[in-house]
Amino acid sequence: MIEIRKIESSRLPSTDFSALEFGKAFSDHMLICEFKNGQWGQATILPYQDLNYPLSLHALHYGQAAFEGMKAYRQIDGGIALFRPEMNYERLNRSAVRLAMPEVPKEVFMEGLKSLIDIDREWVPKEEGMSLYIRPFLFSSSSFIAARPSESYTFAIITSPVGPYYTGNVKVKIEEQYTRSAAGGIGFTKAAGNYGGAFYPTRKAVEKGYTQIIWTDHKDHRLIEESGTMNIMFRIGGTMRTPPLSERILAGITRDSILTLLRSWGEIVEERPITVDEVVYAAENNYLEEAFGMGTAAVVSPISTIGFRERDFEVPNSSEGIAMKIKNALNEIRTGKVADKNGWMLRL
Ligand code: COI
Repeated sequence: MIEIRKIESSRLPSTDFSALEFGKAFSDHMLICEFKNGQWGQATILPYQDLNYPLSLHALHYGQAAFEGMKAYRQIDGGIALFRPEMNYERLNRSAVRLAMPEVPKEVFMEGLKSLIDIDREWVPKEEGMSLYIRPFLFSSSSFIAARPSESYTFAIITSPVGPYYTGNVKVKIEEQYTRSAAGGIGFTKAAGNYGGAFYPTRKAVEKGYTQIIWTDHKDHRLIEESGTMNIMFRIGGTMRTPPLSERILAGITRDSILTLLRSWGEIVEERPITVDEVVYAAENNYLEEAFGMGTAAVVSPISTIGFRERDFEVPNSSEGIAMKIKNALNEIRTGKVADKNGWMLRL
């Protein structure tokens, strides 16, 4: 059972939904559950607030921390539904295992999540294209700085009403110096450090006029891996191509859903290693038809330019393209406009 302490007066009336920056406004409540002395305690929903932690907080020193990203959608009949939340639950626990953290019990995650969104249901935006971004996370919360796994952990969920993530043209640079992840590493997890480690190379790309990076493999930078914080897909000569999952690549839930949709539409879909050379060759010879990122925050983010070694290749990026078809199809499923044939939506 989840313990619930409600806020006295909602911050909703003072929140301007028309001027939301991604992840800056937070709803009225949050969920906390602490792991101490080898066991999980009571999960509690309480008013969104600052918590008091010492500077010896383990997570600040060793980064034993992982997060998830998911969304709740307003349905056309006014109801609310979550998109494939069990996939996030399973992935969080895969991250937990790799980072030597205790797995979160399913009941805490699923029941806590449903109760939290239900209590803050008015925070799920009604406007087209908007949703409630949900951020479950797990971090080490012992107060010691010995370099060994923490003894205490905190699982929390906070939520944030959001509009579109990336806006404008997405210009990406194929990265040949820095690496997001390596074999044997933590690339398949949503470890906090995977994102922290990406900020510096991304900033260098931004200084050169790009929006994001296309990550390549750690060995010789010949294989395409991900794009920014997203999985990546290309349409080359009529075929949809995305790199296969590996210990270096995050198992995106949006990626998995898009592959399912594409196959149901009869598209030719290949999950196989994609070389930088084949993408550049296709771009040079005008059969790179589309390229886009796939992730929870942005859903589908069409790429308009790919930069490689001082050359920029324009990528066709039309509103009639497959990226937009996918985005619209996912949106229709998520808002209840079309039947949810795959059983992806969990209605509250
Ligand atoms: C996602 O889109 O799945 C993300 O993880 C983005 C998040 C880092 C804001």
